[in-house]
Amino acid sequence: METKRLTGYAHGGGCACKIPPGELEQMVAGLIGMPSDDLVVGLDDGDDACAVLFGDNGEVAISTTDFFTPVVDDPFDWGRIAAANALSDVYAMGGVPILGINILGWPRGVLPVEIAREVLRGGLEVCQQAGIPLAGGHSIDNPEPIYGVAVTGRGYKDTLLRNDAAEAGLPLSLTKPIGVGVLNNRHKATGDTFPQAIESMVTLNDQAAQAALAAGVRAATDVTGFGLLGHLYKMCRASGVSAVIDHAAVPVLADARESLAAGFIPGGSRRNLDWVGPHVEANLSEEDMILLADAQTSGGLLVAGEIPGGTVIGELVPEQSPVIRVR
Ligand code: CO
Ligand code: CO
Repeated sequence: METKRLTGYAHGGGCACKIPPGELEQMVAGLIGMPSDDLVVGLDDGDDACAVLFGDNGEVAISTTDFFTPVVDDPFDWGRIAAANALSDVYAMGGVPILGINILGWPRGVLPVEIAREVLRGGLEVCQQAGIPLAGGHSIDNPEPIYGVAVTGRGYKDTLLRNDAAEAGLPLSLTKPIGVGVLNNRHKATGDTFPQAIESMVTLNDQAAQAALAAGVRAATDVTGFGLLGHLYKMCRASGVSAVIDHAAVPVLADARESLAAGFIPGGSRRNLDWVGPHVEANLSEEDMILLADAQTSGGLLVAGEIPGGTVIGELVPEQSPVIRVR
């Protein structure tokens, strides 16, 4: 078996291979499902995970899944990134993960089993870090390699970090720098490696979530495939508020700006900007705008509030029809 670089098997990249936000909303519009009083967070506002009551003390089960094609060439790193990214949606809800299940699509006979094993080992290591078992899962023979994890977590109805609970007057904080989409794009195109991007992507959002809960935060989401602007817009729209961002305050990974200037622009980041652009007022270069909309993989938490370890990047303001003003 002759293998090329792992990212060469991906038609897109990481969360950048997500279905574009506008298209996704069209796809699920009206598909509400059976009404349930126990469903605390469902599909309505596109939150990070769903939450359903069980027992009678306000405890909720949180459920989510995330999977994607290779974002980096190293199979172990890809596994770690995919697992950290999947776990993130539980943390972004203010939950604690309790169980993970693998999802694997593998081009049998094209890519060796040993590489799949490395991917799964990466996922396992991150789930161990998160203190949860990664037990079983499902695998299929698939032309494109796909890996991810379905995660179950637990939390409490009254302390969920929702995307529809943001209030005007609160500061906005971000807990990881942006720019991994651009760096992954360059990695895929050139093979250049960016350890700072890997480090950021494999970092769990567990501490950020704990800090948010300790600070009494009510609203948060994680910044992933729709980029900072996309996820901020979704939060503003769900909460009926607007936002002002100080673009110079937004932390950016080293080498991201240079890579962007050199033309490494993920298709997903451009599609994000096309979608969210009509709701953004800014006087920035196109490059700066693409960076703010850059499709992240396993990004940080965007928090309505100020927390230790977070960087304040702006504030929420009262204006129901959501607009994001970038200064
Ligand atoms: Co999310
Ligand atoms: Co997700």
